[in-house]
Amino acid sequence: MSNAELMTLNINGERFEVAVQIGHTLLEILRDQLFLTGTKRGCNQGVCGACTVLRDGVPTSACLSLAVDCSDFQITTIEGLCEPGEVHPVQQAFIDVSAPQCGFCMSGMVLVAKTFLDSTPHPSRDQIREALSGNLCRCTGYIKIIEAIELASERTS
Ligand code: FES
Ligand code: FES
Repeated sequence: MSNAELMTLNINGERFEVAVQIGHTLLEILRDQLFLTGTKRGCNQGVCGACTVLRDGVPTSACLSLAVDCSDFQITTIEGLCEPGEVHPVQQAFIDVSAPQCGFCMSGMVLVAKTFLDSTPHPSRDQIREALSGNLCRCTGYIKIIEAIELASERTS
């Protein structure tokens, strides 16, 4: 790869050596080099939330994050939310209310919901709507997603 430099990224508790050009986004590295395709490429301009990952626990748009700026952070993708073969309680709640339709937005939704519930364990509906304001879904109308977050709140509180 021309003009690429090797760097190390900390992703899902592991260290990965990747070849990065100066303009590469974290999203490109995750999907195209590490094949962590749970992180979706939607708008690719910071609007839809489909590419959300956690950067030191903070929801972040991977499409707006330059990979070269990420070496000092712990990155968590949907694949690293829990141990392989396990289902996170927030994911289970999404499944149990049949929140996913096409599923494209779900990685971002679940990661945002998880961090939101960590800080706001008993949210109101308005708080949930506000928390989801950066995550777009073309399928569901959001009702099931809100119900899933309420269910996860009940189960984990
Ligand atoms: S793909 Fe990053 S916000 Fe839409
Ligand atoms: S379930 Fe299809 S975009 Fe949200």
